[in-house]
Amino acid sequence: MAEAKSLGVVGSGQMGSGIAQLGAMHGLHVWLLDTDPTALCRANKSISSSLQRFVSKGQISQAACTEALGRLKYTSNIDELRSADFIVEAIVESEDVKKKLFIELDKITKSSAILASNTSSISITRLASATSRPCQVIGMHFMNPPPIMKLVEIVRGADTSDETFHVTKALAERFHKTIICSQDYSGFIVNRILMPMINEAFFTLYTGVATKEDIDTGMKLGTNHPMGPLELADFIGLDVCLSIMKVLHAGLGDSKYAPCPLLVQYVDAGRVGRKCGVGVYDYRKGSEPIKASPRL
Ligand code: NAI
Repeated sequence: MAEAKSLGVVGSGQMGSGIAQLGAMHGLHVWLLDTDPTALCRANKSISSSLQRFVSKGQISQAACTEALGRLKYTSNIDELRSADFIVEAIVESEDVKKKLFIELDKITKSSAILASNTSSISITRLASATSRPCQVIGMHFMNPPPIMKLVEIVRGADTSDETFHVTKALAERFHKTIICSQDYSGFIVNRILMPMINEAFFTLYTGVATKEDIDTGMKLGTNHPMGPLELADFIGLDVCLSIMKVLHAGLGDSKYAPCPLLVQYVDAGRVGRKCGVGVYDYRKGSEPIKASPRL
């Protein structure tokens, strides 16, 4: 396959909805699949309002917005992905759940289809091994939010073919992204470096070194980061951060990657960040102490 013309996106949460939007904005016919119909409704609303913001900022025309919306279809039926050239999986960060999905996708998609994972940290080689087409499985790691962030990290599994890599790279370029390539080791490049910093910020809070506001302000103004690490963790999702730390800890076998107990406790309490209204910060009160990047 020289070029992907149709896209299937599995998981319509923060990342999947943004990836589906990108595909539709760049001329692909997109099926967005989620097992949860309410997630599909949320995705539909967030994609429409995001595209509308692009229009009001003069970045796309109203006609382009309408056309993009017309290229997007929503479903809970995996069979709809049968004819897609390229699938991006963006479901929960769990190896077992992702493997089950890859086995199913391998059965129902056409033999030429490429199966990509947006995983933040899980081994592409192991996901690929669950399928009969390991040479057509690859990591395509978008950043949050996908329509805005410039980077895509491409991860080749042990058996990923050159053709799969080139089609994936061409797709990322069509989305006007800058590409970096990582070997298939836990956390790849970005999360290998970012997550231990976020985890350390939790330890700094947990051990009473400073308040959450001072930790975030320190990293913003002291190191020129656009968001503080705790604020960023809320934006990513504390459940996602915890899953990634567990993958780093298990995959790299070093105790320095052990998740901070405070991060574990927040997730146990269901305080998973912005997406549920409360994480390190409480967004339900209407007064946000530090403003995060708006989602477009
Ligand atoms: P999310 O929790 O916002 O969305 C996940 C969606 O997947 C939910 O709507 C859920 O209903 C759906 N889902 C779960 N199992 C499914 C299945 N078997 N079939 C179909 N749909 C299913 O999660 P988010 O944040 O979008 O993350 C998704 C993936 O993207 C994870 O692998 C995560 O590590 C990765 N990622 C997350 C980033 C972030 O900043 N949140 C950044 C880059 C990658």
